[in-house]
Order: sequence, then C-alpha cells, then structure tokens
Amino acid sequence: MRPGVVHVVIAGATGRVGSALVQQLQTQSNLLARQGVHVRLDPFKRGDRFSGDAFLRRVQGRGPRRNLFVDCTASDDVASTYAALFEAGVGVVTPNKRANASPFGAYRHLLDTARRCGVPYRYETTVGAALPVIDTLRSLVERGDRVHRIEALLSGTLSYVFARMSAGARFSTAVREAHALGYSEPHPREDLAGADVARKLLLLAREAGRELDADDIPLEALVSDCLLRDDDPASFLARLPEADAQWDTRLREARSSGASLAYVATLEGATAHVGVREVADDTALAAARPGENVIVLWTDHYATLPLVVRGPGAGPVVTAAGVLTDIIGAVRSMR
Ligand SMILES: NC(=O)c1ccc[n+]([C@@H]2O[C@H](COP(=O)([O-])OP(=O)(O)OC[C@H]3O[C@@H](n4cnc5c(N)ncnc54)[C@H](OP(=O)(O)O)[C@@H]3O)[C@@H](O)[C@H]2O)c1
Repeated sequence: MRPGVVHVVIAGATGRVGSALVQQLQTQSNLLARQGVHVRLDPFKRGDRFSGDAFLRRVQGRGPRRNLFVDCTASDDVASTYAALFEAGVGVVTPNKRANASPFGAYRHLLDTARRCGVPYRYETTVGAALPVIDTLRSLVERGDRVHRIEALLSGTLSYVFARMSAGARFSTAVREAHALGYSEPHPREDLAGADVARKLLLLAREAGRELDADDIPLEALVSDCLLRDDDPASFLARLPEADAQWDTRLREARSSGASLAYVATLEGATAHVGVREVADDTALAAARPGENVIVLWTDHYATLPLVVRGPGAGPVVTAAGVLTDIIGAVRSMR
C-alpha cells in the first residue's frame, strides 16, 4: 500500500456537483499533494449505475488500501450502502441528504457504525452547501453548549423568491426568475413543496441532539396541492399566477405590520416546523439577499446575541468545493 494515497470513487460524477468536483480534484491535485493529501480518482464510468455489492467486491479484490466513497447522487439506493461500506473500512463523503434523513434508528446506527469501524463519514454539504453549518453545530454540542433555538433560511430558491417579492416582484415572476437563473430544481415544485427544507431542518435538529423523524416536522407548501400535482414543469410555471393574488395579500399584511415574509425552518426546544413567517425588518432573516442561506443559532453561550452563519447555500461549484473540503478532512483522518 503506497503510504498516504487514498483511492476516491465518485458516484454521480456526471451530475452537476459531481462533475464540478472531478474538475476541482484535477485542477487542485498538485496543491493537495503539497499538503500531503494524495488522492487517486477512480470515477465510475459515464452511465455506470452504482451498485454497492459490485463496489464492495472491487474494494475487497484490490487488497489493503485506503478507500473513500463520494456519493454525489440524490439516490436512496446509493445512500443505503453506507453502513456496509463502513464495515468494509471505506470512508464516505456526501452532499446527499438521504442517509441522514432516514428513520432515527437507522440514522443512529449509521453514525455508530462509522465510529465503531473507525472510518470518516462527512456530510457538511447536506445543509447550506459549503457553509460551515454542520461543523459549527457539532463543535458547539461537543463542548457542551446546548442549542435552544434555530431559525434558518435553508433554500436558495425560496430566499430568492421572497427577497424578490419584498423588492416588488409578484410571486409567479419571482419563481420564474429563480428557475431561469438555475436556482431551483429542474421541476420548481420540489422547492415550493417545502419538503427539502424540512429534510434539512431534520438534519440540523438531529445534529443538535433532537431525536426527531420527518413526520415530526409539519410543513407548509407555497402552492396548492392541485398545482403540486402538475408533473410538467412548463405547465406548472404557466399556472403559477393562480397563486399571485393570495401572495399579494399576505405580503401587504406583513408590510402593514413593518415585517417581510420568509420561508423559515424553526427548531424551538423539541419542536420543529417549516413554513412562511412574518419576520421583523431588523432581523438577520429579513436581511437575506436573493439566494442566500441564513442559519441563526441560540445556545447557552449565544443566548442574547445569536450565532449567525450566512452566505450562498447552493450551487454546484460551491457545493463541490465543500465536498472537496470534506474529502481533505477525511483523507487526513485516514492517514
Ligand atoms: N446542486 C446543488 O446546488 C446542491 C447543493 C447541496 C447539495 N446537493 C446535493 O448533491 C447531490 C447531487 O446534486 P446535483 O445537483 O449534482 O444532482 P444531479 O445533477 O441530478 O446529479 C446527480 C447524478 O447522480 C447520478 N445518479 C443517480 N443515481 C445514481 C446511481 N444509482 N448510480 C450512479 N449515479 C447515479 C445521476 O445520473 P443520471 O442523470 O444518469 O440519473 C446524476 O449524474 C444531491 O444529493 C443534492 O441534493 C446539491
């Protein structure tokens, strides 16, 4: 085994985050090597579907070496292989939220297995892309600080939509703009349903020590169930003006009490929920720029003035940069 070399396999290497990551690994390889981080990239070939069994056979057939698996898919099937990979001595780095959003027992088992097997499991980019959100929460909890409340804007699409509405755009126009700029998922209902934000809040709540499951987090969708059932993105976007009048009214009401609207993920004690809220104009949440993520943490040590993490919380290039940071950390821990 060549000392220091870690073999990295990427699933989803042809996707948006995966291809940006491959490019960054290639352009930064000399820089990484100068820091003693020697990465050998074995990407899955274009069109290959990831199979946990085939990968494990490959790992086991190649004798002793350090292996790191990077999951750049959004697949449940791929996420379900992590525990077996840990048992085989393979570390995992991922921006895929699926594994950590699984039922609480499975989530706990996953973390325990990685710890027991002594392999790295890093997932900083599952919330807020490359922003230091998970690491910040973890270091607070590790030093005994208790998290009392979290308020967060966790969707770049929705912070774009509400910031544009505050600036005078109508709801349907703001969503179409977000879609045209590539902020939203290919089908914008994925963002407007709120489920992705609820999943991110679940991950944060668990990191903060709460034993919550997805069903414990009520969520408010931004459009009607009828509209959410429209499978065609073009027709969905064309029908969005149906919701404009309702959003005009809500925004007018918020303005009359000196507030703005925002789609806020909230953890208060043991209770979590996700939905549209009026936020006072002098708060960090109301000051979000279009597309920004904002995470506000109240803890024992940040009781009066909260700790705030903010910045771009999505985008393939910045997410890949965060995945690269996790890879560097994982490789260092495997030496
Ligand atoms: N984009 C962002 O800004 C962002 C930010 C934070 C986190 N993330 C997370 O990062 C992950 C990737 O996002 P993305 O935007 O790059 O998505 P994407 O462009 O849709 O890429 C996903 C890739 O995974 C591949 N894939 C799916 N199932 C697979 C399997 N079983 N085996 C091998 N490859 C498989 C897809 O291939 P096919 O197209 O052939 O199915 C596609 O190339 C997601 O979990 C997402 O939630 C993304």
